[in-house]
Amino acid sequence: MRPVFQTRKGKCFNASVEEVLSSRSFLKYKGKINLIFTSPPFPLNRKKKYGNKIGQEYISWLTNITKSLNEFLSPDGSFVIEVGNAWEPREPVMSTLPIEALLEVKRTGNYFLCQQFIWFNTAKLPSPAQWVNVDRVRVKDSFTNIWWLSKVPRPKADNKQVLSDYSSSMQKLLKSKKYNAGLRPSEHNIGEESFITDNQGSIPSNILICANTQSNSSYLRYCKDHNIELHPARMPVYIAEFFIKFLTNRGDIVFDPFAGSLTTCESAERLDRKWLAAEPEIKYIEGGKGRFIS
Ligand SMILES: C[S@@+](CC[C@H](N)C(=O)[O-])C[C@H]1O[C@@H](n2cnc3c(N)ncnc32)[C@H](O)[C@@H]1O
Repeated sequence: MRPVFQTRKGKCFNASVEEVLSSRSFLKYKGKINLIFTSPPFPLNRKKKYGNKIGQEYISWLTNITKSLNEFLSPDGSFVIEVGNAWEPREPVMSTLPIEALLEVKRTGNYFLCQQFIWFNTAKLPSPAQWVNVDRVRVKDSFTNIWWLSKVPRPKADNKQVLSDYSSSMQKLLKSKKYNAGLRPSEHNIGEESFITDNQGSIPSNILICANTQSNSSYLRYCKDHNIELHPARMPVYIAEFFIKFLTNRGDIVFDPFAGSLTTCESAERLDRKWLAAEPEIKYIEGGKGRFIS
């Protein structure tokens, strides 16, 4: 199988992930991929443009793929998968399909669940519209789950690579070196040293807050200039960047099996990682090329 698009660091295949994983030329990546980072089509109750499957059919389809992906991961590699929420048709109740899918992915692929992350999309439009805007009986559904899975309980990870800036009060504290140490009502005994050491930033939480609004990226400009349809379910580059920095080193291999507009690949390229991508819709790859034009 030949890449339809490549850069110095990456290769993108215009094919389904099933075709890519079963091709002879991809065999060389068995046990070599350090991070699989992806956002597959979500389990929906109505089919989306790019053919999301529904119900049990979705779970079987996804688990067949995620089981095969395990063989391509390096022993200390990670598999990070974003799965959105889903709602039942006609009633204001949530579907448990995404949770059932996660449990089946974990069980059939023999994965450990390292940690759950939430991506809180602050710009998410109110949905499901009928229940939120019209009947006013539910509130905005504005996050997706990002599940960090791995082959071993301690895959490669370093939270020092994803430190956030200190808050202004923490910066003041570090300057003054005065901390009210001692026993708290929670019975935690807070030692002074641990709180006034400058660790170059604070350890981030597993809630990633990021709006999905970008009006000035090379991707958007390129699509507009070339009259290419925008991908309807793009992820912000920041989210991919966070996991690539956290779970890989320079020169490692990152694979996005449901690559869409090549967001993961843009981030891997910028961070000097090698990348691989599978996407069956050529129009999304054509648009994604705009991410590599400076
Ligand atoms: C949620 S989107 C990914 C969006 C991507 N993260 C981005 O930021 O652009 C899922 C993608 O999976 C693709 N897809 C659907 N079935 C697939 C399959 N069997 N193999 C690979 N990709 C598939 C769809 O065409 C779609 O672009």
